[in-house]
Amino acid sequence: MSARYAVHGPAAVITLDNPPVNGLGHATRRDVADGLVRAQDDPAVQAIVITGAGRAFSGGADIREFDTPQAMREPNLLSLILAIEASGKPVIAALHTVCMGGGLELALGCHYRVAAPGCQVALPEVKIGLIPGAGGTQRLPRVLGVEDALNMILSGEPVASERLAALPGQRLFDRLVEGDLMTGALAFAAEVAARRPLPLVRRLTAHHPNADAYFQFARNTATAMAPQFPAPRKCIDMVAASVALPFDEGLRLEWSTFTALMLTPESRALRHVFMAERAAGKIADVPADTPVRSVKRLAVIGAGTMGGGIAMNFLNAGLPVVMLETKQEALDRGVATIRRNYEAQVKKGKLTAERAEQRLGLLSTTLDYADLADADMVIEAVFEDLGVKEQVFRRLDEVMKPGAILASNTSTLDLNRIAAFTRRPQDVIGTHFFSPANVMKLLEVVRGEQTGKDVLATVMQLGKKIRKTCVVSGVCDGFIGNRMVEQYLRQAFLLVDEGSTPQQVDKAIERFGFAMGPFRMSDLAGNDIGWAIRKRRYAERPHMQYSKTPDLLCETGRFGQKTGAGWYDYQAGKRDAIPSPVVLELIEGHRRTLGITPRKIGDDEIVERLVYALVNEGAHLLEEGIAAKAGDIDMVYLTGYGFPLHRGGPMRHADEVGLFNVVRAMRRFQHNPLDDAAFWEPAPLLARLAADGKTFGHGL
Ligand code: NAI
Repeated sequence: MSARYAVHGPAAVITLDNPPVNGLGHATRRDVADGLVRAQDDPAVQAIVITGAGRAFSGGADIREFDTPQAMREPNLLSLILAIEASGKPVIAALHTVCMGGGLELALGCHYRVAAPGCQVALPEVKIGLIPGAGGTQRLPRVLGVEDALNMILSGEPVASERLAALPGQRLFDRLVEGDLMTGALAFAAEVAARRPLPLVRRLTAHHPNADAYFQFARNTATAMAPQFPAPRKCIDMVAASVALPFDEGLRLEWSTFTALMLTPESRALRHVFMAERAAGKIADVPADTPVRSVKRLAVIGAGTMGGGIAMNFLNAGLPVVMLETKQEALDRGVATIRRNYEAQVKKGKLTAERAEQRLGLLSTTLDYADLADADMVIEAVFEDLGVKEQVFRRLDEVMKPGAILASNTSTLDLNRIAAFTRRPQDVIGTHFFSPANVMKLLEVVRGEQTGKDVLATVMQLGKKIRKTCVVSGVCDGFIGNRMVEQYLRQAFLLVDEGSTPQQVDKAIERFGFAMGPFRMSDLAGNDIGWAIRKRRYAERPHMQYSKTPDLLCETGRFGQKTGAGWYDYQAGKRDAIPSPVVLELIEGHRRTLGITPRKIGDDEIVERLVYALVNEGAHLLEEGIAAKAGDIDMVYLTGYGFPLHRGGPMRHADEVGLFNVVRAMRRFQHNPLDDAAFWEPAPLLARLAADGKTFGHGL
């Protein structure tokens, strides 16, 4: 049963019962519809109460049904709501905990609504690129007023029932029930059982004194804030329709708009991200009920750029951190940076001074390993040097208590070798934070050959606690994100050799939607970092073709923003990237040395080469088992590298373009004499999926 039916005195009670959040999947809808018929047919029943079992009234449509015929199978949500409206006996929705999306739309179709305080009420469809499709945009303005309804529909954010109940003139709730909700709902049902005519939200009207100007202002704001997404503007159009059109016409317009949005690449991308984010937390061979270790106290080794930011994550979550360094000055510098970060947040009004002090109060420092003995987990963020890491891990092995988790923030070193420095490789794991570690959402959780499943499960849970998007990566040089970005940057540099300018490449990929192009990104991260990596690669991969231009740039000391000059020029204290004549000259000089006649390169080629370089490397990572799912790669790129959200990540984007087309373009790039034909050989997985007419999404 997905909804239960019971009779309590003169009232029938239909209880949605589809864990975890009573999603309105087909079976649930059918059971509610059956319950309505039973209640109509039972002469002893005078009123019907609909409520939800467990932790929600209803979280809305069952997203697992999206894109399947089940979603529209009768009774669909629209026809179920019509059946509720048509009931000859009053139907009362009894709302608690969570009432969102389709759940709220169903409640709005009921004759009355009673709610417990603290119920989170929302129409969150805009977050997956949609509008509410079962009357939400037509009914909510009629009960809340246009402005409050539009705010909820456009933001998708939940509002607590008691706040909504306090809005003047609201008709959303007929009663707020303190105490037992069911007792209150049944008492209310008894009061209204004989009342006729039955009230319907569709009979109310929505007004705005200044409708045209108000909606135009809203459209301008939405366009400026989310230019890539059509759904916010459609939300506004629909609320405008609730004012301008008769109810049934508004409902029809809402439905046709909803179905059109379902097919947009933007909504498909957002739905993919919604699912991928949840799926990233699931690891095939680590069951959800794997026991986790208790992590209440942390230690961080190294108080540099990363160590400080990493520590802040845990302080923010209320967990005490002890930070260890080799010298007092380094500790003092690290603590001063953390303090400055908190002070900046206080200045911006993001944090109270009292809270900032509380968090700082959880931080202690030491030069002595003995002080780490009671930490449940330690994260090492010392210099990227295997010898230094060896010293640290051997020491940690001596002092840490049994069962403590030993994590390394290494970005390139072999975690299995680091684990082998200890006698407890099962307790060793990689936690690859991104800079600035207190801000960036992404955390690559690196699973060593011997990392214990409970250690993995613990770190994934802890990552969630500090609000990171955690993605598991196997051990390889660069893990998922940096291994892919290396190929992306390689293409960017080759494009410049062939005829583009850094600003042309940056502009093209920024128009595609990236937050920042590869040259601005390199200047921000420091060009010397890539230089060091390339030097290693020249030795490891002597056959691969690399552009020498970035090395020439580094030889002139142009390391990026930190030296005031990189691919661009920078004015002191500013971050604006100014095209540099010196760099252009350097590029042109190098082309002459190589005998390259520059050609005009279109934006399409720039975008395809940069993005498909990511896709092909991503396919290799999947094939090698470094990444478990295409969605994991997408989450890495969306949360760590500024990949445009409306495209859903590189692998999702490739699916949207069609893998057949991706492979065709790669075959074209193989003919470029200045690039590597072998690199553009489609990864076997990509070639297979393309040949079978499949996608990364359903290929895995
Ligand atoms: P950093 O140079 O800013 O900080 C390293 C700190 O470790 C210094 O304060 C140093 O005094 C301390 N240290 C060195 N040897 C030590 C020892 N034996 N015991 C205790 N402390 C010691 O370096 P950063 O950038 O913070 O990098 C740290 C680690 O994080 C490296 O493994 C790096 O590859 C990794 N990483 C760096 C990222 C970045 O963007 N900077 C991003 C992701 C990972």
